[in-house]
Order: sequence, then structure tokens, then C-alpha cells
Amino acid sequence: MYGMTHRALRQMMIDRLGPSAWAKVERETATGPADLISLCVYDDSKTIALISASAARLGMEVDEALRIFGRYWVRFAELSSFGPIMDFTGQDLVTFINNLDRMHRSVVLAMPDARVPSFTLIEETRERLLVRYRSDRTGLEAFVIGLLEGLMDRLNETGTAKLVGHTNGAVDFAIQLDRN
Ligand code: HEM
Repeated sequence: MYGMTHRALRQMMIDRLGPSAWAKVERETATGPADLISLCVYDDSKTIALISASAARLGMEVDEALRIFGRYWVRFAELSSFGPIMDFTGQDLVTFINNLDRMHRSVVLAMPDARVPSFTLIEETRERLLVRYRSDRTGLEAFVIGLLEGLMDRLNETGTAKLVGHTNGAVDFAIQLDRN
């Protein structure tokens, strides 16, 4: 993945545990400044190694760390040069999710080697959204849950996101909103 992801993880770890915890993650994974260049692409194994070492420092399972990282990513992206793109993507969950593929396509203009996922809103009621996720990667389901939670935070919604099933290589997530 792009180094922007590694930088986001570093920031999250420094926010949570301070710089010395991140320094340990770097030592354990033989990571240096050359692995943290926003616009460089690294093998996914590097990204996974950094997340695993961070999870151990946080005292969490890898999936829990992926989830909090997904939630953090939304705030990190807001403060990055992509912030304005997020504003255009939507001010409510339905619009945002419907425009997410377009948003990732504009990310790809800046980061041509990004392998971005695809999201489709397949069912919508006032209280529940069903979102289909397709990716050529596996194992990032907990990250998706965190991202959906991060989107709820951003768009002033409360509720839960959970994996509800697999369909033809895609993964379905339900967002249950607290709306009365
Ligand atoms: C402005 C906000 C965002 C930016 C700049 C952004 C950008 C990116 C970038 C650069 C990658 C890495 C691709 C690669 O290096 O190959 C990525 C991956 C990903 N993005 Fe986004 N993204 C944003 C918001 C979101 C949101 C809101 C969601 C979901 C609700 C999302 C879902 C994902 C997922 C699941 C991946 C992992 C790759 C995969 O599944 O194959 N992103 N995104």
C-alpha cells in the first residue's frame, strides 16, 4: 500500500501511545524513513507487519487494531490534501457511500498504483444500510468496519457496522443506525 497508510498508522500510534511505542514498532519491523514516504508504494506485507506489531503494542488482536485504524483513517484523510474531496463526496451516509467509488477514482489520479476497493449500497431503509464491498485483497474486513464507523462519526450518525455475509467474492456489511 501507499506510504500514506503507514504514516496514518504512525500518527495513530503516536496519538495513542506516544513516540516511543512507535519507535519500538519501527525497530521490530525494520522500518525506517524510506518506508514512510506518502507517495511511494510498498508491498502489502510491509503494511500488515506494521499493523501486527502495532496491535501487539496496543494489546489488541490484529482485527481490533485494524478496526480502530479504519476509524482513525477517516479523520486522518480529512486533514490530508484529500479533505476537500471528502467534502464533495457527501454530507450524509447514503450519498457518501454512493459516491465512494468516484472518490477512490480521484484518489487513483493522484496515486496511480493504488488498488482501491469498490462499495455498492444495495439496500437502504431509514435505519439500516446494506453495503457490498469488493476488493482484490482479503483480510481487511475489520478495517472496513472501522472505516464505516469513522464515516458515521464524520457525518454525525451513531450506530453499528457489522459483517453480515459473503456473496460471490464480495462481503456485505450492515450499518444499523440509531434513529428514532
Ligand atoms: C478521502 C478519504 C479516503 C482516501 C484519501 C482514501 C484513499 C485510499 C488509499 C490511498 C488506499 C490504499 C490503496 C493502495 O495503496 O493500494 C485506500 C484503500 C482502501 N480504502 Fe480508501 N480512502 C478514503 C476513504 C475511504 C472510505 C471512507 C472507505 C470506506 C468506507 C474506504 C475504504 C478503503 C478500503 C477498504 C481500502 C483497502 C484496500 C482494499 O480493500 O483493497 N476508503 N483508500
